Order: sequence, then C-alpha cells, then structure tokens
Amino acid sequence: MASTSQQIMRLGFGFAVSQALRVIIELGIPDLLAAGEQSVDELAAATQSKADALYRVMRLLAPEGVLREVAPRRFALTELGAMLRSDQSGPRDFVRMINSEAYLAFEQLLYSVRTGKPAFDKVFGSPRFDWLSEHPEQAALFQRAMVALSQGSNEAVAEAYDFGPFTRVVDVGGGHGQLLSAILARNPHLSGVLFDLPSGLAAAQQGAGGNLPRTEFVAGDFFESVPSGDVYVVKKVVHDWDDDRAVVILRNCRKAMQQSGKVLVAETLVPPGDEPNLIKEIDVVMLAITGGLERTEAQYASLFKAAGLQLERVIQTKGPISLLEASPA
Ligand SMILES: C[S@@+](CC[C@H](N)C(=O)[O-])C[C@H]1O[C@@H](n2cnc3c(N)ncnc32)[C@H](O)[C@@H]1O
Repeated sequence: MASTSQQIMRLGFGFAVSQALRVIIELGIPDLLAAGEQSVDELAAATQSKADALYRVMRLLAPEGVLREVAPRRFALTELGAMLRSDQSGPRDFVRMINSEAYLAFEQLLYSVRTGKPAFDKVFGSPRFDWLSEHPEQAALFQRAMVALSQGSNEAVAEAYDFGPFTRVVDVGGGHGQLLSAILARNPHLSGVLFDLPSGLAAAQQGAGGNLPRTEFVAGDFFESVPSGDVYVVKKVVHDWDDDRAVVILRNCRKAMQQSGKVLVAETLVPPGDEPNLIKEIDVVMLAITGGLERTEAQYASLFKAAGLQLERVIQTKGPISLLEASPA
C-alpha cells in the first residue's frame, strides 16, 4: 500500500496521466492495438515517434488499466483502453478536448479561485465560446466532445419526458443536435428548432448529432433572444454560466414562450456528501473555463424564480441527468 506521501504526490501528478492519454489518442495507438498486441518498436515506426519515449508513456498508462504490457515492451489494449478507439463514440474526443486549451487555462485555476473569474479569459484573451467561434477546428472537436460526454443521456432525456402536448421544441444551445434528433425521432408530431451560435450549428449541419428532420437551424445569441416555441430544452447550457448570465438565458425563454409552455433544463445535480462524482470535476472545470457552475436543485429553483419561471418537478432520467421542468410563474 502506498504511503500517504506517495498517495498525495500521485494526486499531484494527475496531469501526467491525462496528457499521456491524449498522446496515445493523437498517435492513434488504440486503433493500432485494436487488431492485437504489438511491440513498442512496431508502434513507434507506425506513428513516427521515438520508441523509448513512447514506451515510457505506455508504461505509465498500463497500471492505470488502459494498456497491458503482455511481454517486455509489448502492449495490448484493455477494455478500458478500447474506449479510446476512433470507431467508439466514447470519451476519446472529450479527453482530447479537455487536455488542449482547457488544460492550458487550468494552470491558472488559482486565479479563478481568487477572483471568481474564468482563467480561460485571462490565458486566451477572450471568453471560451468567443474563442471557439474563431477556431472552427477546435469548435468541431468541442461539439464531438459534447456528444461523447452525453453517452446515452440524450436518448435518456428524450425518453423521460412526454412531449405529446407540444408542437414545436426549441433546443437552446443545442450544438451538435443529438438531443433534438432523439426527441424528434420519438415524436413524429413535433417540429424542432436547433438554436446555437454559428460555430455550434456547424457540427449539427455536418451530422455530428444524427438525423434532424423537420428542423429549422437558427443561429443567434441566447443572451439577446431565443426563437419562439412551446417547449424549450436547455441541456448542459445553464451550467456554463454564472447566476446573472443564466437568468438572462432563462428569462429569454420565458419571454419567447406561451403561457402554456415549458422550459426543461437538463443538468446533472450536485449530490450532497463526499462521494466521488464526475460532476465535481466538471464543476471546477466550469469555474476555470467558462465561469459557470454545477448546481443543486435549490439553486436551479432560485434561478427559475429570478427569470419569472417556477420549478414544477424534477424528473430523474435513466442517466446522471435530471430534467427540471419549469412553467411561467
Ligand atoms: C456545453 S455545450 C452543450 C451543448 C448541448 N446542449 C449538449 O448538451 O451537449 C453549450 C452550448 O451553448 C452554445 N452557446 C454558447 N454561447 C452561446 C450563445 N451566446 N448563444 C447561443 N448558443 C451559445 C455553445 O455553442 C454550445 O453548443
């Protein structure tokens, strides 16, 4: 068993594993190992890298369960590592995305803790979504990462709610469009509006989130206004923003909707207690990257109130996402 000093040092070395994961993804190692085990020399030749250096990175990932050193300097992919293959819609793009600009900004987390402001803006000179608008390749990776992060939760949201009474669903900040695609597939009577910045819509228009029949693509800024509809889905958007900004988005939904309309905020609620939960990592990433935060049910209820809405009920989907349904107050 590792001593306490080794345990704490290991935590402090977290960046080594996260960047090593990114390296094997960028080199395509999981794809090369998909057909069977290979020696480091073969892998280095196939990826134009230095065998000794590659060996050290792969040796670091083996005890983490990503690879297995089956013979000296010879590796196989584990079930965990197989999640990083390019034919998997798993977390590969998320690991790449979070270990690029977000990683660089994270070095200034202390700045965010001292000021409450996003480190990203300090390091990159503009807010996260403005920066993405000017970097189409990174914006496309971001949207693929959002699909990866969703891992079934879009289907779970579509299944958990009865869209029967509505005619026009607006997905606010819908990005890649996977949620809207799942809702429309289950509800042939509905038409859809995918509303996002042009950089977000680009991925959807290229099919990143699946089929989007009966859909109007609308580019715009949700701090200005949102298109009209009778049910609004707002998934993993409110968590990007501080309370003042979040209330503006929800108020704009309130302004655009009819009295009988609903707003469905889809987010993962922060659970009480010390149990490990990915939402706690995501929360601190929000602090440093966008200036947003993960919230409890009570915190969402007070956002709705400030926006002229009222939280009616919370529906737990099959996944980690909850659906917070609000009506005009
Ligand atoms: C964290 S992503 C969530 C995407 C998607 N709803 C999901 O659940 O995967 C936030 C989305 O908000 C969009 N967004 C950011 N700022 C925006 C703005 N001012 N107006 C409209 N959309 C915006 C981004 O482009 C991005 O698609």
